[in-house]
Amino acid sequence: MSTIQIKDKQFELSIPEKDILKSIGNMAKQMYNDLHDKDPLFICVLNGAFMFASDLMKHFDFPCEITFIRLKSYQGTATSGNIKEVHGLIEDIKDRHVVIIEDIIDTGHTIQYLKQSTLKRQPKSLRVAALLFKPDALQTGIKADYVAMEIPNDFIVGYGLDYNGHGRNLKDIYKVKN
Ligand code: IMP
Ligand code: MG
Repeated sequence: MSTIQIKDKQFELSIPEKDILKSIGNMAKQMYNDLHDKDPLFICVLNGAFMFASDLMKHFDFPCEITFIRLKSYQGTATSGNIKEVHGLIEDIKDRHVVIIEDIIDTGHTIQYLKQSTLKRQPKSLRVAALLFKPDALQTGIKADYVAMEIPNDFIVGYGLDYNGHGRNLKDIYKVKN
């Protein structure tokens, strides 16, 4: 089935699971080289990055830790620009090599905010790994250090990403039909 209905919108298949996993594998190799000797702390940004973080972490067999924070910035299919902080970071990240794991960089406001607030905690280094990047939507200068896939400026769901809370469970990525 390549077209699905979520609430009031129809979505069509855009990136099948096998392509997602292949891109994550390529990205993981690069991350492995950079991080294998650094005992990094990964910070997974909930809710959107849960599936991505899970598949990404399976590529790493070196010493590392993962923790989770939660943010909310989107309403419907448009970014609200107004990021609700639920940082929830209990680990001391001072002098640690930290990697933020995000689902998608759209306008870039969320990651800009997150980088600033994380840098205040004085990590030894700070990197960003994003599953998806929409270059045409970017409104800030911030880019991720690692990006699995660049996509056009379409609203998408699946593989952790939602439309008003639904669709996170889908194993493939779908884009909205106009
Ligand atoms: P930004 O602040 O505009 O970069 O938005 C980042 C956040 O908005 C991401 O972490 C996602 O949770 C959400 N988001 C951005 N684009 C999409 C999309 O196409 N579908 C679902 N969520 C999205
Ligand atoms: Mg998110």
